[in-house]
Amino acid sequence: MAKAKSVYRCTECGHDHPKWAGRCEACGAWNAVAEEPVSVVRPSASARGRRTAAGGLVGGVKPARLRDVATQPLERWRTGLPEFDFVLGGGIVPGSMILIGGEPGIGKSTLLLQAAARLETAGRTVLYASGEESPDQLRLRADRLAEDAGAVHVLGETRLEAIIGAAGALAADVVVIDSIQTVYTDTLESAPGNVGQVRECSGQLMRFAKESGSTVIVVGHVTKGGGIAGPKTLEHIVDTVLYFEGEVALDYRLLRTTKNRFGSVDELGVFSMTERGLVPVPNPSAVFLAARAAGISGSAVTALMEGTRPVLVEVQALAARSGYGTPQRVATGLDPKRLAVLLAVLERRAQMSFVDLDVFVQVTAGVRVTEPGADLAVAAALVSSLLNRPAPPDVIFLGEIGLGGEIRPSGAVERRIAEAARLGFRRVFGSALGAPQVAGVSVVGLDHVEQLVRTLAA
Ligand code: TYD
Ligand code: MG
Repeated sequence: MAKAKSVYRCTECGHDHPKWAGRCEACGAWNAVAEEPVSVVRPSASARGRRTAAGGLVGGVKPARLRDVATQPLERWRTGLPEFDFVLGGGIVPGSMILIGGEPGIGKSTLLLQAAARLETAGRTVLYASGEESPDQLRLRADRLAEDAGAVHVLGETRLEAIIGAAGALAADVVVIDSIQTVYTDTLESAPGNVGQVRECSGQLMRFAKESGSTVIVVGHVTKGGGIAGPKTLEHIVDTVLYFEGEVALDYRLLRTTKNRFGSVDELGVFSMTERGLVPVPNPSAVFLAARAAGISGSAVTALMEGTRPVLVEVQALAARSGYGTPQRVATGLDPKRLAVLLAVLERRAQMSFVDLDVFVQVTAGVRVTEPGADLAVAAALVSSLLNRPAPPDVIFLGEIGLGGEIRPSGAVERRIAEAARLGFRRVFGSALGAPQVAGVSVVGLDHVEQLVRTLAA
């Protein structure tokens, strides 16, 4: 078949190049030039009159008043894996496209095979197209699982046109592409995994999803920089982006929503990886705190907001005399820059000096802290370690710390405190500003880091 003509376009600035280049000659971006077909034939005629998942017309040319647009309650297919359904916002939306990113070996294929098995059991037709593993390898994996994946349709194919053809012939409700980096389309000459291929394949899969009403779930390996398949190009195309993460050595796996057109973002689902596949963890706070040893200095508990759900985690700190040279600052699960800021604030505003000390801070269970609401817990763990005084076991720490050493309230306090109460915590150390009344929990107001130090030292 004669190849269609291609252009090489920068995905950052849109500049066209006569041939592929490692660096865009217009804007200087590296690795951003991607092959694109010159003209994409859009199947508008066949699509006209069909409805999308949201009830709008695909390919229709007559605009409608917004108030006349018919709305239907969004249909959802439950996978029966509660944590997976939860992060999706209640289940899989028909006709949508979902991207699951994560490092190799984290459990993406396992999760999707389990979801596929459950969907088939519930009467949905699922096509699992695997370019990563051969069907017999998939079978070996399936045999380990608690679910019966026997009815799932598998395809060991990497040519996109063949996969879409098979999905159409099967009238599949859900199509899994494992992974997007292994598939290629005939319309481009470049190799699978290339940014151009990934973009074009994703675009074609999105059109297929919208036109057929099938849901397409694509797996994307996370590259070293943390982006999925190159310059994050995929994330704009799809409806929902999930990241699967966790320390491979630990059993916990965290599934997080970073984009969702059909639900809220930053939702967190927790699984544990077992001999028989992934098992949802319905009560993450209890699991994250299970290994906590009371009465040890350098430990502080806080409640993070993970999407709409509060989750309790333990922050641990250890300040130890530095052997030689520049003291080390090691932060696991926390931004090292945030740690540096908090150390400087403690030093200047509360006379807690960590000079000459190695400082190690970690958040347990592989959770990553990104919100400033955890500042006070980090500071408390640091001070507790330095003073060698354990924090009281029934206390959680809530609040942001400013550069002046002032402690500010964090958002969604009521839900955080309610979760703490549920797990048996009786006191909250943090800003008393606007602190809500939650039965069984008292708020001990702290306005400044100096007060934190005095309280922990007492
Ligand atoms: P996998 O789903 O292949 O990861 P990905 O698709 O993200 O690359 O997960 C592979 C890991 O999971 C591998 O180290 C084996 C482990 N595993 C279990 O512990 N239990 C199981 O039941 C299965 C199927 C895999
Ligand atoms: Mg895999």
